[in-house]
Amino acid sequence: MGRDPRRLILLALLLAAPGWAGGAKPTIQEAIGWRLFFEPALSRPGNYSCATCHIPSKGFEGGEPLGRGAHGDPLGRNTPTVVNLADTDLLFWDGRASSLEEQASGPMTNPKEMDMTLDLVVERVRSLRRYREAFAKMGVEKPTVDDIAGAIAAFERRLTTGPTTFDRWIHGDRSALNEQQERGRLLFFTKGDCALCHNGANLSDGDFHNLGTGTPEDQGRYAIEKEDYYKGAFKTPALRNWKGREPFFHDGRFKTLRDVLEFYSNPPDSGVGEREIEPKAFSEQEIDDLIAFLETLNGDWPDLKPFEQAWKALGVE
Ligand code: HEC
Ligand code: HEC
Repeated sequence: MGRDPRRLILLALLLAAPGWAGGAKPTIQEAIGWRLFFEPALSRPGNYSCATCHIPSKGFEGGEPLGRGAHGDPLGRNTPTVVNLADTDLLFWDGRASSLEEQASGPMTNPKEMDMTLDLVVERVRSLRRYREAFAKMGVEKPTVDDIAGAIAAFERRLTTGPTTFDRWIHGDRSALNEQQERGRLLFFTKGDCALCHNGANLSDGDFHNLGTGTPEDQGRYAIEKEDYYKGAFKTPALRNWKGREPFFHDGRFKTLRDVLEFYSNPPDSGVGEREIEPKAFSEQEIDDLIAFLETLNGDWPDLKPFEQAWKALGVE
């Protein structure tokens, strides 16, 4: 056997380990983005902001398998988190948006979500004195869609989570993990093959994989890229700060982390496209060990108070 690919993955993980940016004072643009994130006027009936679905106390996710939009329509997919996305190239479960700026207009104009037109978004934002005055403070007299999406994206880029126990381990503190967590770490990188897809700073390769979870109605990435390989493939979710983001998977089918590990132990195959994983037949002990390791991937959630303070300091509301 040549070089063990797992070693290379571990090396990639080491190199990609992030330095937590933490708390530089928010800029005017980021403060406006924070306010817009909580702005229900961005939905046609005036009842839904981004934060209605990306709930900060639920890991910036919806807390339910599938949420509902501003008119009460059920959504087709589980709401993913908006933290730690600054370095993510392709957004959504199928990767159909390639920047946070481009992404932001998606939910606003989706008839099932916020049901706006971009013209109406601009009109609403310009009609509110607080935004006119706030944007003026950054030299923007008539905010455009790009200014609005740019502010939301700038705020989202600041949503990073704090250092974890595993970060300490990565940075050389070999006493950071206890015995059980260490057993779980080995399972993650060897028998579990988890790091084949869950690698890099946030434990996601940013790529699309088929776990046998697609349906004829939702074939994942294939809707965007018509290659057989992408049939039934969904974006690998980040495992950094998984806690609080339940339920899991693109359709929210799993309530707990244990459910997910039982899936990997003996995964059913929906038969859409070609599945990439093999059953792992984990013992109960191995599942407990993996969970113990995965617990070390959680850090503090971003603190939104500085954004609120920066917004208040603008004195526009
Ligand atoms: C009605 C609920 C709802 C609202 C409102 C909503 N979102 Fe989402 N958001 C979702 C769902 C569901 C997805 C996943 C859709 C998919 O993958 O097809 C998503 C995906 C995203 C993603 C991609 C995350 C990733 O990992 O790829 C970002 C970023 C995001 N939303 C930001 C926003 C912003 C900013 C707003 C406000 C302008 C917003 N969302 C409003 C439900 C919502
Ligand atoms: C072939 C790539 C691949 C491998 C190997 C893999 N995963 Fe995943 N993982 C994914 C994809 C893709 C999803 C999302 C699937 C979906 O939504 O249908 C996912 C989802 C998850 C989730 C849910 C996260 C969320 O936010 O919904 C967890 C937890 C997880 N995997 C842990 C693991 C563990 C632990 C292992 C090893 C036992 C593992 N994965 C192996 C690609 C992979």
